[in-house]
Formats: sequence, structure tokens, C-alpha cells
Amino acid sequence: MPETKIFSVNPEHVDSAIISSAAEVLKRGGLVVFPTETVYGLGADALNTQAVEKVFDAKGRPADNPLIVHISKEEQLFDIIDEMPKVGTLLTKQFWPGPLTLVVKRTFLVPDNVVAHMDTVAVRMPNHPVALALIEAFGGGVVAPSANLSTKPSPTTAQHVLSDLRGKVDMILDAGPTPIGVESTVVDITTDPPLILRHGGLPIERIAAIAPRIQVAVEVESLMRSPGTRHRHYAPAAQVVVVEEGDSEAYAAAVQTHRQQGKQVGAIVHSASLVNLERSQFVRALPNSPEIIAQQLYSLLREMDDYGVQVVVVEGIAKQGLGAAVMDRIKRAAESS
Ligand code: TXA
Ligand code: MG
Repeated sequence: MPETKIFSVNPEHVDSAIISSAAEVLKRGGLVVFPTETVYGLGADALNTQAVEKVFDAKGRPADNPLIVHISKEEQLFDIIDEMPKVGTLLTKQFWPGPLTLVVKRTFLVPDNVVAHMDTVAVRMPNHPVALALIEAFGGGVVAPSANLSTKPSPTTAQHVLSDLRGKVDMILDAGPTPIGVESTVVDITTDPPLILRHGGLPIERIAAIAPRIQVAVEVESLMRSPGTRHRHYAPAAQVVVVEEGDSEAYAAAVQTHRQQGKQVGAIVHSASLVNLERSQFVRALPNSPEIIAQQLYSLLREMDDYGVQVVVVEGIAKQGLGAAVMDRIKRAAESS
């Protein structure tokens, strides 16, 4: 087991000596956790089968769940994909670097374990100075799933990473909390119309402005195309219960029912009618903003577990903008409870 080294990196003034040593670790086939604008990623050399294998081992990730290859400039795609479809060129022009992952036909150079033996590969250019500096210094594609244990909520701080992966990775680059807080939006552009496989940090409304034919993959389709979505995901140890936005009666009833069963109940709410109902130790009141809720959600779910909360009642949110990704994650957490 490697000893995990942690380095603080200021995203506004990235220390090039730390970045070079992290890039060396990647070149030797090691694992480096780095921040992106969405969540922390568990990085390895995308063209090194053994290094990729270590990523699956460290996370306890099922082998049938493919990884995203991260790049810092488009030339790095030459090894990874044969051709970028036209719609992909339009989308990357507008949204890269950024929280958009594209699924494209892959080359034979990409190891089979990266793509779970499929003929497509997911690629993205993250919009974070530390991620971009690391990939640039490494000089090629870097696979990076979220740096959490499989089934746990994705990490938005280096502390989350440590509590899941200490002793399982060589290095962690800590640049503070990640700004977006939910994972990238995954879009399959091998099909016409293009399909959203996972809602995420780039809202569908913004993608539709460039690719108006875009559709959301229905559950079955997305299960087939995006194996990751069929595994248990994003779930804290506590049971998650969702109530509709602004429904203070349902909220009060859910809290009361579980308390009567002798359970420690927590809540994450944002509407005034729910916030004003009670302000107890485990009630977290957020501003009524999908951006802030997205940024805080995973952190709050982990915090509830740390407190030993057994049931978390989470207020839903309209599926607009980042609200779609937030609702998707909350629903998945509730389904796997
Ligand atoms: O924001 C993010 O995307 C973060 C940061 C670190 O970049 N990464 C991330 O990776 O969330 P991961 O491995 O936790 O999620 C990757 C998702 C999974 O749902 C996986 O099934 C899907 O992308 N995926 C990867 N390759 C695919 C492919 N070839 N076809 C369809 N879906 C794919
Ligand atoms: Mg993940």
C-alpha cells in the first residue's frame, strides 16, 4: 500500500514543482488525485493498462463501469479517438474546458479496461487550473473517475478523498472545495440525436442551444449505454427520503414518522416554508439556489453520516439548470437506501 502524500496547491498560483512531481507519479504508473471544477478525480495514465487496473482496485469499482479520459488540449485526442463528430466539434468549441463529457468511437490504443471492452470512450477537458497543469505536464490522456469509494458520494474536498482512499493512492493535490460539486454531464454523440446519459454540471438547456436535437436517454437506454448508471451510486450510509419542493406537510410528516421509530433524523432544505418549520442540530438550511445546493450536496450527505444520522430528509428541487443533476443524484441516493 502506498503512503499517501498530500500537497496543497493554490489554484490561482499553481506550484509547478508540485505539478511536475505529480506528473512523474503518473508516468511511473501511480495514482494521483486532483481537483476538477466538478469533483475530485482519481487519476492514472490512460494508456497504461496496469495503472488503470489500480484505479478500479482502489475504488472497488466494478470492471464493467468505464472511465472518462481527461485531456488538457485537443491534440491529445489523437491517440484516443479516430474522429470527432461535427456536433462534438460545436460542443467542445463552446464548452471545453468545462463539465461536459462526450462519448465517442475510440481507437485501438485505448486499453480495454478503460472502456469496459466497449467500442466507445468518454472524453473531457476539465476547467480547473490544477487539473489542466497536471495533464499538460504529464503530456497525455489521464483517466479519472470520481475519487471516492464506489457507492459513496463523490468527493468535493480533499478530506472526503482521504477518508475514502488514504493508503490507496500515491498523491492528493488539495486545492480546496470543488466549485460545481456534481459530476460532468455525459453526452453520447455516437448517435443521432445525441443523448444525455448523465445529467451534470453543464445544464441540458445550455447544450440544447448548440445541439437542439439533444434528448435525454430513457432509463433503459441509459442503462445499456452508460453502465455506471446501473450501479449503486451517490449514496450515504443514511437512508435518504425525498420530499417535493416546498411541501412542508410532507416534510414534517417524514421527519415525525422516522423520529417516532427512534431514528436520528437529519434534513437538507431550502424553501422558507420548510426552513422555518424547525431549526434543529441536524437540519441544514441552504439558500434557494441550484448552484449552491449542487456545490454543497455531497458534502452535507457525508456530514450527516459523520453525525450518525440514520435518515436524511432532502427537499427536492425544480429540474431546471443544475437542478436536473441535483434531483438525479438525490433520487439515486434515495433508491439505493
Ligand atoms: O465530473 C466528472 O465527470 C468526474 C471528474 C473527476 O471528471 N468524473 C466522473 O467519473 O464522474 P466517473 O467514473 O465517476 O463517472 C463516469 C461516468 C459513468 O457513469 C460511466 O458509466 C460513464 O461516465 N461512461 C464512461 N465511459 C463511457 C462510455 N464509453 N459510454 C457510456 N458511458 C460512459
Ligand atoms: Mg463516480
